[in-house]
Amino acid sequence: MSAELAEAGFEAIEVADADQLESLLEHRPDVGLAILDGESDFDSTIEMYSMLHDGERNVACLMVVSSTALDRLSLAGRARVNGEFVTRPYSAASLRWRVEAMLIRAETMLIRAEALDDDARGAILDGEVTAASSATTRRGQIVVVFNPKGGVGKTTIAINTSAMLQLRKNQRVMLIDCDTVTGHVVASLGMTEIPTVVDVWTADLGTNETHSLSEIASAHTSGVAVLTMSRSPLHTEVLEPKRVAQAISAARDHYDWVVVDMHPDYGPLNQGIFALADHILVPVTPEVPTIRAAVQFREVAVELQIRDRLALVVNRSNSGISAGDVEKVVGFGAIAKIRSAGMLFVHAANGGHSAVEEYPKARVVGDIEALADRLIATRDNPGREESPFGGFMRHGRDLLGRLTSQSIGRGQTARIR
Ligand SMILES: Nc1ncnc2c1ncn2[C@@H]1O[C@H](COP(=O)(O)OP(=O)(O)O)[C@@H](O)[C@H]1O
Ligand SMILES: [Mg+2]
Repeated sequence: MSAELAEAGFEAIEVADADQLESLLEHRPDVGLAILDGESDFDSTIEMYSMLHDGERNVACLMVVSSTALDRLSLAGRARVNGEFVTRPYSAASLRWRVEAMLIRAETMLIRAEALDDDARGAILDGEVTAASSATTRRGQIVVVFNPKGGVGKTTIAINTSAMLQLRKNQRVMLIDCDTVTGHVVASLGMTEIPTVVDVWTADLGTNETHSLSEIASAHTSGVAVLTMSRSPLHTEVLEPKRVAQAISAARDHYDWVVVDMHPDYGPLNQGIFALADHILVPVTPEVPTIRAAVQFREVAVELQIRDRLALVVNRSNSGISAGDVEKVVGFGAIAKIRSAGMLFVHAANGGHSAVEEYPKARVVGDIEALADRLIATRDNPGREESPFGGFMRHGRDLLGRLTSQSIGRGQTARIR
């Protein structure tokens, strides 16, 4: 683990017990994150955890725990629901991505806290208490849409969920096309002329400027802020994975939702974005090859420790295998089902619009609305929710998800490796 972190450019300092941790924290206020091994001496781990959250101190923690310890931790009320835990099996590489994502989040939070302080100071000088600063205290959620197979509805769902959240749910949405090879968000929205991140960041080189994603984005007729990484699969060197992940994380200050459409691969850019995501929507059409692709993704997700963020979207749900059976086979809960809508999406895209704008009364748009409502409900009330197909499931980074990911993981990592 230390070697892997060093390779990633982090300084990894090992401490053996709570006393050593205490003296380290006194000398090194710059410690950004702690990885706690809670598998051997759990009581000492709890002590160290408290130490890392003592008074003003709030060091992000990634804790390796056994499933029994995870139980104890949550029963003792010490674990926040979205705390960061790792259970076996895990690899050094997957921990590295988690560490990177957590540091990016912590860092952008710090920058934001400073900015808010300035705002607050300004507000006090102006003699007004701003509602704006409280409105910005909740950061946006990152929703990734991914399935390693093409043609399953990723782009369609990304576009229409974004438009639904923006138009009908009064949310601020940024939609990012991170597919630098086959991306077709901007074409479907009739926005092929807009500047890309590669264009702007390349022009920034050698100047003192770095444009943020919200500065580069262009407004679509639906009100969604649309952004595409590049126009061509070549010359994308400027899209350094860590920088892209940092920029996406920072965009959460300006939007309630950041929806990311991805290229079907497991490369460093995608791994960096997966690690940041609050939700990973996995569209699956009820056919065997697509279901197999989703099962493969679930196995990879176990390895990457993101299994609990996956939510199935059964697309073209009224054809082929039933939605409930798809859910059982892929092995993670569904958040929505979207019916097959003939040429409706194609017609909407030909006009450069989402179906939400073009066919607001269509039943399939109602399905998209149900998906958007569930995303909002999950954000506002993270916890237990009824599955649309009967029974119960849980969303988000919750206990059950972690335990399930662990039990699914045990039998399957051998195959992934
Ligand atoms: N529920 C649906 N009903 C009808 N057509 C759909 C539906 N979902 C996707 N499509 C169509 O299927 C094609 C592939 O969808 P797309 O979103 O581009 O997939 P991906 O991004 O996964 O490659 C598109 O022409 C799209 O309009
Ligand atoms: Mg696509």
